Amino acid sequence: MPTSKEMTDLMDSQRALAVDFQNAAVARTEAVEGKTLLVTGGASGFGETFVTTFAKNPGCAAIIADFDKAKGEELETSLREAGLQVKFIQVDVTNWESVTSLMWQALI
Ligand SMILES: NC(=O)c1ccc[n+]([C@@H]2O[C@H](COP(=O)([O-])OP(=O)(O)OC[C@H]3O[C@@H](n4cnc5c(N)ncnc54)[C@H](O)[C@@H]3O)[C@@H](O)[C@H]2O)c1
Repeated sequence: MPTSKEMTDLMDSQRALAVDFQNAAVARTEAVEGKTLLVTGGASGFGETFVTTFAKNPGCAAIIADFDKAKGEELETSLREAGLQVKFIQVDVTNWESVTSLMWQALI
């Protein structure tokens, strides 16, 4: 069982970590400003979360690159209606020509 002093020290160290984490989060937000993130598998699951979280940063955009056209376009529409800068591009990541085409379209 930790002593009261040990508990206080532990709480202080956790509080310091939390403050550093907040500062780091602000620094990270500034670091991504003006950037565009291309997310393969971006129409659902983890990819959808990456797209949405990133595009919410000021001045940021995200490309939803996914095989599933219906889901990709649905997500594109809903995020645009929420004021976010997103674009859906269909891709099959197992196909070289499709990935090359994605890269060209993403540059435009
Ligand atoms: N390591 C872990 O602990 C862990 C845990 C969960 C999921 N995963 C893996 O992470 C990945 C994503 O998981 P999820 O839950 O977000 O899955 P998900 O099925 O929700 O999303 C995957 C997305 O990829 C798209 N996709 C599938 N094949 C594609 C292709 N050929 N080209 C382009 N897009 C394609 C799908 O249309 C879908 O939108 C999966 O491979 C999953 O197995 C790993």
